Amino acid sequence: MSTVFTLSAGAAALGLSILAGSVPASAQVADSITIYNAQHEGLTKEWVEAFTEETGIVVTVRNGSDLEFANQIVQEGANSPADVFLTENSPAMALVDGKGLFEPVDQATLDQVPEGFRPGNGHWVGIAARSTVFAYDKTKLLEDKLPKSMLDLAKPEWKGRWAASPSGADFQAIVGALLQLKGEQAAGEWLKGMKENFTAYRGNSTAMKAVNAGQTEGALIYHYYYFGDQAKTGENSKNVALHYFKNQDPGAFVSISGGGVLASSKHKEQAQAFLKWVTGKGGQTVLRDGTSFEYAVGKGEASNKALVPLADLQAPKVEPSTLNNAKVTDLMTAAGLL
Ligand SMILES: [Fe+2]
Repeated sequence: MSTVFTLSAGAAALGLSILAGSVPASAQVADSITIYNAQHEGLTKEWVEAFTEETGIVVTVRNGSDLEFANQIVQEGANSPADVFLTENSPAMALVDGKGLFEPVDQATLDQVPEGFRPGNGHWVGIAARSTVFAYDKTKLLEDKLPKSMLDLAKPEWKGRWAASPSGADFQAIVGALLQLKGEQAAGEWLKGMKENFTAYRGNSTAMKAVNAGQTEGALIYHYYYFGDQAKTGENSKNVALHYFKNQDPGAFVSISGGGVLASSKHKEQAQAFLKWVTGKGGQTVLRDGTSFEYAVGKGEASNKALVPLADLQAPKVEPSTLNNAKVTDLMTAAGLL
């Protein structure tokens, strides 16, 4: 399941020999870093290609999922070949940070990202963000019949009417936010209600397709699945609209994708340069103009104009560094969801 792509080392080396006078000092050695990438492959590919072109630093990307890589990094410890870890969501970053495996992020990089989009300890940094939404069948559900709160989806009136992808890190991050906001008992009860009411799909795109095909009335997913499909043919979302819970509801959770430099990295300078680039103008412009439809998080950086502005989402305040995936997994297992 892990795939590897390496940008042409030859091309980068050629660039260096021609441009040696104009490339940053950090790129004038045989630079290369390895990224364990759990972000969407397409987004990281866009980032890496532009970063290498600009700096000459060659990047090897291994693709996997948030918690698969977090656990792998913990197992590998000081021997990890990874220099940088990129995730879709914060819980996997919190897991690695909890084992003391991150190098503090350079202050200049932290300064590029507002405080709400990075953990207070500065051990990793937000690189992008995504909003929880209820993607619903607009041919069946009228707006006044939509759930006012994500918590409503556990009530009997929603039995058999909605979908989610509980095995994925995206959904588990939402549960992590619910746990932090409402406590263990309330989260556990909501998950039990969910088990009664929902249908499991593997993957958020699949859940959205089920809504589009009329198999279920709504799905609790992230926003970009819809925008990504709309920007292509729209065939998997033509009957779908997005409902934003807002009002600091747990369902208005905005999840922060993280980036961190591993303490075991032998290429820390280049790894820090990558994080600085991703959170700066270069990386954030890729979010605005590319095809990921994730939110930009850099100070003063605009997101894709198709999106509901981040400031209008009325997201609840959640501390990313304490999202507890171990507890989430326990609660979801107890509720029969995993
Ligand atoms: Fe995702």
